[in-house]
Amino acid sequence: MTWKEIYESKLVTAEEAIKSIHDNDKVVTGFACGEPFGILQALIDNYKDYNNVEIINMLTLGDSPWCRPEMKGHFKLNCLFASHSNRKAISNGTSDFTTSHFYEIPDVLKNYICPRVSIVMVSPPDEHGYVSFGTTVDYTRGTTDYCEVVIAQVNKHMPRTFGNSIKHVRDFTYFVEIDQPLPEIKGVEISENEMKIGINCASLINDGDCLQLGIGGIPNAVCAQLWDKKDLGLHSELVGDGVVDLLEAGIINNKKKQTHMGRTVIGAAFGSKKLNDYINNNPSVELHPIDYVNNPIEIAKNDNMVSINSCLQVDLLGQVVSDTVGLNQFSAVGGQVDFVRGATMSKGGRSIIAMPSTAKKGMISRIVPLITEGSAITTPRNDVNYIVTEFGIAQLKGKTLKERAKALISIAHPKFRAHLIIEYIKRFNEEPFSKDELKEQLKDVKEHVDDVKMQIKNLLSKRIEEA
Ligand code: COA
Repeated sequence: MTWKEIYESKLVTAEEAIKSIHDNDKVVTGFACGEPFGILQALIDNYKDYNNVEIINMLTLGDSPWCRPEMKGHFKLNCLFASHSNRKAISNGTSDFTTSHFYEIPDVLKNYICPRVSIVMVSPPDEHGYVSFGTTVDYTRGTTDYCEVVIAQVNKHMPRTFGNSIKHVRDFTYFVEIDQPLPEIKGVEISENEMKIGINCASLINDGDCLQLGIGGIPNAVCAQLWDKKDLGLHSELVGDGVVDLLEAGIINNKKKQTHMGRTVIGAAFGSKKLNDYINNNPSVELHPIDYVNNPIEIAKNDNMVSINSCLQVDLLGQVVSDTVGLNQFSAVGGQVDFVRGATMSKGGRSIIAMPSTAKKGMISRIVPLITEGSAITTPRNDVNYIVTEFGIAQLKGKTLKERAKALISIAHPKFRAHLIIEYIKRFNEEPFSKDELKEQLKDVKEHVDDVKMQIKNLLSKRIEEA
């Protein structure tokens, strides 16, 4: 049979394709920009026909219909990266969550979770019968190697990408042609604080460095500060729109890379049409499976690797919490530790964790004496090196516990420094700063004096209660 005959023999409607899903099945799906909504919608519409089916998904940009009350007993979400639409369901037990470093997820899926069915989204086949996983190669392409049933939504909006991102039509069970614009992550305006954080991060980046950039406001703010750099490289789990202008301008040209010289390497594209148009048919951007892209050994093959990720909380020892708030799952470790370790192992490499100094509209400090009870450590203190806020840079490797704490107090928001200093004294039985240093640390406190008084009052009343 020609590839066209093979393709046509597998073409069905979404309703026909989902008949191959049985009660008690585990079904893994593509995620983010590659979430095959066309086929998933058929499952949602026919939910009453299914019992106890587990849906495994890394991250949805839409809502998580699997968490709706009527889905109980029919579908259950096993989430690999929590988002706004399923955090509550994970916290109250309606949905479940599997934790894993991103580079291990292909192995965890294949050898531990063992889904029988895979539902993915691909581009239409080329003249040789190959479809492309486009924006979403990561763990998604690999599922088609081991799942018994592989259903693909063929979507003309899915870009055709280079790298290890293609499969022949014979490797699929069913094709369902549904053209839908891909879900998009639109850039948000960079705040003044994020801009300051971007400037501080950029001061740690040199010409010729190879970058990993996480997602969200901070990576975009970092990108905005890279226009005076040259010969940068990009080897990143995900990228957003922020890199496109730098790539087009040749600021990122991948010239100095040791692997994939001249080409950007990513596991998934996580942006808007701007990014998807850029990676479409672009031989300078390669998408590869995540067990390759995020493998710390592969990352470290590039010299001067710089990883930039964000977090929710850091304690005075440099323990980093990025994916939980107390007992609640907020996101996931993703590739944070993969890249922190890869960058650390790279010759000349550096890892940066960048965050605003406060959260909840400035009401709480992200730098804290103790991690919130119930939170999980995402990146252990022994892995962490640079922590960046809008107030500066704390370099932690090679520092004693006291030196770490002092460096972190110095980049906390001034209104929380008095509180952190008191906690330092309680912990280490000594004053952290000389009189002059203390003056410097507290110089901006005047405008926040009421906040500081309130914190100290709360602290004292807590102590009295404890006593
Ligand atoms: N306690 C309570 N709430 C907190 C908090 C804390 N210590 N820190 C932040 N928050 C709140 C914020 O106030 C904000 O709430 P709001 O939406 O009501 O304003 C919310 O949590 C999100 O915080 P923010 O810092 O704006 O999130 P972000 O979108 O910039 O994402 C991470 C930051 C850490 C969640 C995200 O980078 C992540 O999930 N990282 C782990 C995965 C990773 O690094 N992967 C590798 C690269 S892709």
